[in-house]
Amino acid sequence: MVENVIEIHNLTKKFDNLVAVDQLSFRVKKGTTFGFLGPNGAGKTTIIKMLTCLIRPDSGTALIAGHDILKESMAVRRSIGYVAENQGFYERMTAAENLDYIGRLLDIPTTKRQRRSAELLYWVGLADRKDSYIGTFSKGMKQRLAMAQALLSEPKVLLLDEPALGMDPMGAKEIRDMIIGLKKDRDVTVLISSHILPEVEAVCDEVGIINYGKLLVQDSVENLRHTIGGGMRLEIVLAQPNERVVATLQKMSCIQDVKVEGQRLTIYITGKDEMRPQIIEAIIKSGGQMLSVGIKEASLEDILLKVMEKGI
Ligand SMILES: Nc1ncnc2c1ncn2[C@@H]1O[C@H](COP(=O)(O)OP(=O)(O)O)[C@@H](O)[C@H]1O
Ligand SMILES: [Mg+2]
Repeated sequence: MVENVIEIHNLTKKFDNLVAVDQLSFRVKKGTTFGFLGPNGAGKTTIIKMLTCLIRPDSGTALIAGHDILKESMAVRRSIGYVAENQGFYERMTAAENLDYIGRLLDIPTTKRQRRSAELLYWVGLADRKDSYIGTFSKGMKQRLAMAQALLSEPKVLLLDEPALGMDPMGAKEIRDMIIGLKKDRDVTVLISSHILPEVEAVCDEVGIINYGKLLVQDSVENLRHTIGGGMRLEIVLAQPNERVVATLQKMSCIQDVKVEGQRLTIYITGKDEMRPQIIEAIIKSGGQMLSVGIKEASLEDILLKVMEKGI
């Protein structure tokens, strides 16, 4: 049986008249990286803060590693690591001092604390800067330290609120690689909120698209590409228009549709499997000469725009 590490049931939060989170329900399976995607103000931070027990929902609840956020906040806090949207640090502490301080707050015994801090500083690539003041760190370095800090308690669930916000492309890539590494190196389920599409696309097994506090869809990027994005298409330019090629392609069961504009063919492929080799072979066998072959897939951005437009 698949264990859901995060289970959210009808979670609702209002700020005066504004419904920031609206009867939200969803589940995240153990070991997955789940990306929460939505524009500013969608409710991402509010949801994460409720899951960390920092704010209390008006109604509904959530279970984190089986613990109820309303009734077992201590157990929830022990199960999670959290990197806030604008994680603050004592700038006059060194990276090592900071981890030691947090480790003390978490009651981690000295030897364990020191071993884990050293290991995490190494893992986030800050081992050689462990004695530098945090005030001298770049935004990317601070974010890496925040990840180390969040992992100090060896949490089952890591909640990352916009981890690459305001970061330069290099810094964003480092964070991305670390999130990918988390799955490989550590047995952690990750919930990451972001409005940066490539980030979510690169690291997440599943995405949930949220707007106005509602979850519009939840699925793998691959499935969303298919169900919402319209699957994969091949764009082929032939040396000259060729009706035989078109007739052959139209008969193939893996092809949904063929659009023809002179020598330019757009082939809509059904199913998730890549049928490219068979299609290319069929074109050649029917006497088609190809000048170019391109593959197009809906990006997460196409999908997001479609979902937002439809407002499902
Ligand atoms: N403490 C608060 N008081 C009043 N309104 C808030 C508060 N926190 C968030 N909001 C509002 O709730 C909505 C969701 O905010 P937030 O969860 O921060 O969205 P996101 O993280 O997706 O950008 C926004 O309209 C925001 O202005
Ligand atoms: Mg936010």
